[in-house]
Amino acid sequence: MRLGIIGVGHLSSFILAGLRRAGWSAGDVLLTPRGQGAALAARHGHALARDAGEVVDRCDLVLLAVRPAMAAEAVAGLPWRAGQVLVSACAGVPMARLAGAVAPARVVRVMPITAAAVGASPTVVWPQLPEVEAFLSAIGTLVPVDSEADFETATVSAAIYGWAQALVVAGAEWSAAQGLPPDVARQLVARTFEAAGRMQAEDPGPMREVLASLVTPGGITEAGLHHLEGAGALRAFEEACAVVLRRLR
Ligand SMILES: NC(=O)c1ccc[n+]([C@@H]2O[C@H](COP(=O)([O-])OP(=O)(O)OC[C@H]3O[C@@H](n4cnc5c(N)ncnc54)[C@H](OP(=O)(O)O)[C@@H]3O)[C@@H](O)[C@H]2O)c1
Repeated sequence: MRLGIIGVGHLSSFILAGLRRAGWSAGDVLLTPRGQGAALAARHGHALARDAGEVVDRCDLVLLAVRPAMAAEAVAGLPWRAGQVLVSACAGVPMARLAGAVAPARVVRVMPITAAAVGASPTVVWPQLPEVEAFLSAIGTLVPVDSEADFETATVSAAIYGWAQALVVAGAEWSAAQGLPPDVARQLVARTFEAAGRMQAEDPGPMREVLASLVTPGGITEAGLHHLEGAGALRAFEEACAVVLRRLR
């Protein structure tokens, strides 16, 4: 068994879709029956365990994706052994809250996003152990960080992902309200965000210069950016990042 999952809800359903898309055999993933576990096993052929104890018994790599408040309770008292790795996706749950409960197994914290379903999750990982690389590479790219403090800061990007989608929806709905066919508006705005992200990720120049190269003096980008800045939109964005980080700490 390549991977076991404790907590088959919203996030896990997207991760499972990504693994199948990457060519993992459905039967290579063992699920707990709660939540969507039994239904997804029946629909896609994933293996179904009796309970979390059987998942720990049969898997060397175990993903934990229960709600943060349930995390410590979900892994306590299970038959953990040396050589196993618990991969926790639980936001804001520190390593120390899980490490004692799963010893002698080790813990890796990860922060995947639902884009895992299309193989596009930039998954924050700390610490980066070789045991998790094949799994995380199947659902996107790894973004290793050096400390737990950096991990919490990097987790804010999982919320930024949601805000970016809110902007895609706002831009597409506005365009459709002006008369653009809704499917054209959706694809155009969504692909525009994808393009912006790719240019900032792949252009070797300084970020501010990549941005400045778009903002022609007197042009349309400058006009809209001035309006957003004047309305406090970018400052509010930074404040929202700080709100999320305070919650995570
Ligand atoms: N949603 C995202 O996009 C996202 C992104 C990154 C990280 N995360 C993290 O992923 C975790 C899960 O989030 P989610 O949105 O997927 O939540 P969710 O939809 O509520 O899924 C959690 C699942 O865990 C099951 N569960 C609870 N206790 C269990 C136990 N002891 N053994 C086995 N299964 C158990 C629940 O089953 P019942 O219904 O029977 O209670 C539920 O199906 C959270 O910690 C969150 O911080 C989520």
